[in-house]
Amino acid sequence: MSNENKTVVFHADNISKSFNAGKHLKVAVKNASFDIYDGDFVSIVGSSGCGKSVLAKMMLGLYPPTSGEFTYYGKPIANTKKHWNEVQSIFQDPFSCFNQFFSIRTQLEDARFILNPRPSKAEFAERVDAGLRAVNMEPDEIREKYPFELSGGQMQRMLIARAFALRPKVLIADEPTSMVDAHVRAGILDYLMKIKKELNMTVVFITHDISLANYVSNRIFIMHDGQIVNQGTPDEVLGNTTEPTTLKLLDDIPDVNKQEWIPNSHLARKAKNAENA
Ligand SMILES: Nc1ncnc2c1ncn2[C@@H]1O[C@H](COP(=O)(O)OP(=O)(O)OP(=O)(O)O)[C@@H](O)[C@H]1O
Ligand SMILES: [Mg+2]
Repeated sequence: MSNENKTVVFHADNISKSFNAGKHLKVAVKNASFDIYDGDFVSIVGSSGCGKSVLAKMMLGLYPPTSGEFTYYGKPIANTKKHWNEVQSIFQDPFSCFNQFFSIRTQLEDARFILNPRPSKAEFAERVDAGLRAVNMEPDEIREKYPFELSGGQMQRMLIARAFALRPKVLIADEPTSMVDAHVRAGILDYLMKIKKELNMTVVFITHDISLANYVSNRIFIMHDGQIVNQGTPDEVLGNTTEPTTLKLLDDIPDVNKQEWIPNSHLARKAKNAENA
């Protein structure tokens, strides 16, 4: 389906975000222009410090742009509380999102206080149960558990269950798999794709790893030094690209993901050419 008939969720026209860093001005996002459409699974890919999280925080309404026009369903983000009813996030470190001294169950259920109108305790408990089952966890398994009793991968699944219970229109997942092993990573991405489909969400997924982006998304933005230097469908971005940052990210893919997750890419072709040589 062409993008023309789709509803625009985020529209960015030449947006920048700078910070005062001592005597210097740090421009974290530079003149970015893009549209994110309803139902998209967009990946933002780039190396450390290129501005991915700052862009994600702009989408969450945490940083207004320093210049340019940025809208959510056609309007600037004015009220963050209202915005968070619809736009939720999953961050890199699940342990920092949970208090060690309260049971996980209590904290999942307390997420209902974010919402306005607020679902009843009983209704939200059912949504939490559904969220836990969506990530293959029986609600009884964690009923009395505390965060320190679960692994990093299990805690990431708790964050996905929480997102499922909150049912946002848009989910921003900032490196949700960077702290877990490769085999756990694939599982987490599968859960993300599953809840996206079940809830009809728009997802913005942030990663260093272009092969993960290719695995999950219908559109990819490549960032370098605050700028979006390449954007399009995975085929457009990875196919025959000569764009230097994209080529570098392709070469940086961990070996374990290379052949498996980007079958039509430049890497697979490189491997094939080597075989045929
Ligand atoms: N609040 C802030 N004040 C000043 N500078 C900031 C602030 N937040 C981010 N920056 C700077 O903006 C740049 C982009 O940061 P950002 O966190 O978006 O990088 P990133 O692409 O998410 O990197 P990583 O992959 O390591 O998470 C960095 O140079 C960072 O130091
Ligand atoms: Mg970041």
